[in-house]
Amino acid sequence: MSGRGSLLVVDDDRSICEAMADYLRSLGHRTETALTCRSALDRIKEFNFHVVVCDVNLPDQDGFHLLEWVVANKPETSVILLTGYGTIESAVEAIRIGAFDYLTKPVIDDELNFSIQRALGQREIVEENKKLKEQLQVKFGPANIIGHDYKMAKMFDLIESVADTRTTVLILGENGTGKTMTARAIHQLSTRRDQPFVEVACGALPDSLLESELFGHVQGAFTGASHDKEGKFLQADGGTLFLDEIGTASPSLQVKLLRVLQDREFEPVGGSKTHKVDVRLILATNENLEERVRTGEFRQDLYYRINVISVTQPPLRERIGDIPLLVDHYIKEFNNQTNKSIRGIDESAVQLLQRYQWPGNVRELVNVVERAIVLAKSDTITVADLPEHLRQGHFEVQHGANRLAGSNDLKSALANPERQIIIEALEQNGWNRQETAKLLGINRTTLYKKMKKYKITYEDHAQILS
Ligand SMILES: Nc1ncnc2c1ncn2[C@@H]1O[C@H](COP(=O)(O)OP(=O)(O)O)[C@@H](O)[C@H]1O
Ligand SMILES: [Mg+2]
Repeated sequence: MSGRGSLLVVDDDRSICEAMADYLRSLGHRTETALTCRSALDRIKEFNFHVVVCDVNLPDQDGFHLLEWVVANKPETSVILLTGYGTIESAVEAIRIGAFDYLTKPVIDDELNFSIQRALGQREIVEENKKLKEQLQVKFGPANIIGHDYKMAKMFDLIESVADTRTTVLILGENGTGKTMTARAIHQLSTRRDQPFVEVACGALPDSLLESELFGHVQGAFTGASHDKEGKFLQADGGTLFLDEIGTASPSLQVKLLRVLQDREFEPVGGSKTHKVDVRLILATNENLEERVRTGEFRQDLYYRINVISVTQPPLRERIGDIPLLVDHYIKEFNNQTNKSIRGIDESAVQLLQRYQWPGNVRELVNVVERAIVLAKSDTITVADLPEHLRQGHFEVQHGANRLAGSNDLKSALANPERQIIIEALEQNGWNRQETAKLLGINRTTLYKKMKKYKITYEDHAQILS
């Protein structure tokens, strides 16, 4: 907790100075004293005090001089100014320059104590924030993107070279390949890193809502718009706006986006005031935009605007050399989270992971590792800890982000082992039979029969689904 700090008391009256210092030491603070502005500054240059308590009237230069120096050079140090003849003006001036507090002499012990406690408390909050921010930067920073494959190396080079520009970046890749992670890393590598990173999942909202989400709206713009709403573009001003699933944008939204990209300005829904913003745009999609331009679903002019620099995230099955690295990384991560101490994964389990096609890419791998850690009976992950559909090993899979979405209909997907597909569909739907049957395009009774035929039971396959 706050409580104790290192303090410097500056007062040319030696007895007052010592009395204050003694009192502060009695409260447990490490306290030094100085009798002149010069000697105080000499000490401050050498040592990072938490708080400096300084008389305004000093023989050489006054307390304001010290205050200004500290504000400019040691902003982490709080200054509390003391004066014998407090006037409102000088108090206001002190606070304006950056003093933490301003007390009038004779200073009451309690008052001084209270002020110092507040300064130490505030400092703690500031430090806590800084720590949290650093943790966030580490978590989302480029250092946490695992990959030694040359495709990843190429991607790193590219994001490093574009990060510190305002160039629009388009990130392409299947689901779970790390698009969001890359977008955050680009932001962290840019000088905008201390400004907001705002993320919008464009596919998650219906058109009408999406426009007001992005551009905001004015009161009364539509039924239910009971007050003005600030959009994400404005929230991201100075920082980065990440538009995920941009392929789903409707024609009218595409027009609006084109305008913001060209002029960096827009009007809120139902409003006439034009807002100018300084926003760096990063967009991502798992769709083939070029194809959508050809079919007329995506505007060509917008496509050119957003496709200035494009970064392609390789699917996991094309960089299986990275699988052991990713597994090790996530074993550590989940060990920390779950208080387990799994040491690693055995060779045959790794081989199995490397043979699998990973339609859900790294996201799916992360889930598999998490599950294995929960299930592992020894300190090593073995084949037995991997999900059934992986253990079965040899099966054909179509390429694509979501092979079930591409072949919802069980009949048309008979090229894949049926059992495998059913298990995956069940897992995807949390073992809800009704939903699974719907996804597979069969009725529930048929699903039950097939589950029986293939001996698929919840108990065998979904140990960790609650
Ligand atoms: N190269 C990587 N290194 C470590 N973790 C990764 C990597 N790529 C993806 N992940 C992890 O996989 C999951 C999915 O990544 P995400 O960026 O959300 O993918 P996308 O946005 O392409 O769907 C996240 O948990 C992310 O941390
Ligand atoms: Mg994403």
